[in-house]
Amino acid sequence: MSIFYLDGDFVDSEKAVLSVNDMAVLRGYGIFDFMRTYNKRPFYLKEHIDRLVNSGQKVGLNLPCTKEALFDIVMETLERNDNEESNVRIVYTGGTSHDSVTPEGKGKLIVMVTPKHDLPSWWYTKGVKIITVDVERYIPEAKSTNYMNAVLTQQEAIKSNAVESVYVDRDGRVLEGTTTNIFLYLDNKWVTPGAGILPGITRSVIIELMNEQQAVELRDISREDIAKAKEIIITASNKEIVPVIQVDDIQIGDGQIGVHSAEIMKKFKEFTTRYGQEGHAERVKTAV
Ligand SMILES: Cc1ncc(COP(=O)(O)O)c(C=O)c1O
Repeated sequence: MSIFYLDGDFVDSEKAVLSVNDMAVLRGYGIFDFMRTYNKRPFYLKEHIDRLVNSGQKVGLNLPCTKEALFDIVMETLERNDNEESNVRIVYTGGTSHDSVTPEGKGKLIVMVTPKHDLPSWWYTKGVKIITVDVERYIPEAKSTNYMNAVLTQQEAIKSNAVESVYVDRDGRVLEGTTTNIFLYLDNKWVTPGAGILPGITRSVIIELMNEQQAVELRDISREDIAKAKEIIITASNKEIVPVIQVDDIQIGDGQIGVHSAEIMKKFKEFTTRYGQEGHAERVKTAV
C-alpha cells in the first residue's frame, strides 16, 4: 500500500479521494508534474516544482503553498513510502466551484508516491517504432491534467505496433510525443524543437550532456527532417532515452540503434547512476 499526501494529510492511497464536484473531474481542469527517483532521490525535484508553478501560471492555478513547502511535502511523502525507487506525481486540482467552471481557489494538492516499474528492456536494446499524428496541444508549455489527446493517440500507436505518437501541428512542425520530447540526429548534430512543447526536464539534462560534445540545435523540425534523420530518440522521466528505429513507414538509419543514440544513452545512464551520490555534481539547469 502506498502513502499519498492529500490536502494536508498523509493517507493510504485507497483513502485518497476527491470530491466528484472537483473541476479536475468535471472539466479536466488541473495541473500536475511527474518525476522518478534515482538512488532514492527525486530527480531534479526543484525543476519539476518550478515547472508545476509555471504550468499553474499558464492556466490560472496558484499552488496553496510555497515551492519550499512543496519540496518538503514531496520529501516527506517519499520517506513515508519504502520503495526501492519511486515514481512521484504531484497534482493540483481545479477544486470545487459553484458553477463548475469558475475557479474559486479551492484546489487539492496531492503527492502520489508509487514503486517505479521498468519498461520493456527490448525498447532499449532493439529500438522502437513511433507514429506521427496531426494533433496540437492546447497551451503546450503547461502540464495540465487534460491528456485527452494523449489517451486517444496512444491507442492509435498501439494499433500500429508503435510505443508513442508524436504530435505534428498545422504547419507541419513535429513537436513532441504524448509524454516525450524528441531529438533527431540530422546533418551531423542533434536537433530538437525549441518551442511549442512541454520543456521536458529529461530533455534539458540531455541537452546539457549533448552540449559537452557538440551544441544541440534548437529549431523547428519538419516531417521531411524525419525522413532525413540518421537517428532519433525520445526522452521522458519515466522512459529516460528510448531509441527510435521507425517512424510511421519510414525506417530510421539502418534500422538499428545508432552510435550517437547509444553514446547519449550511456552518458545519461552514467549520470543517473551517480545521481545524488557523493561527488556527483548536479548540473545547474538552464531553461531551454
Ligand atoms: C507532453 C509531454 N512532453 C514531454 C514530456 C517529457 O517531460 P519530462 O522529461 O519532464 O518527463 C512529457 C512528460 O510526461 C509530456 O507529457
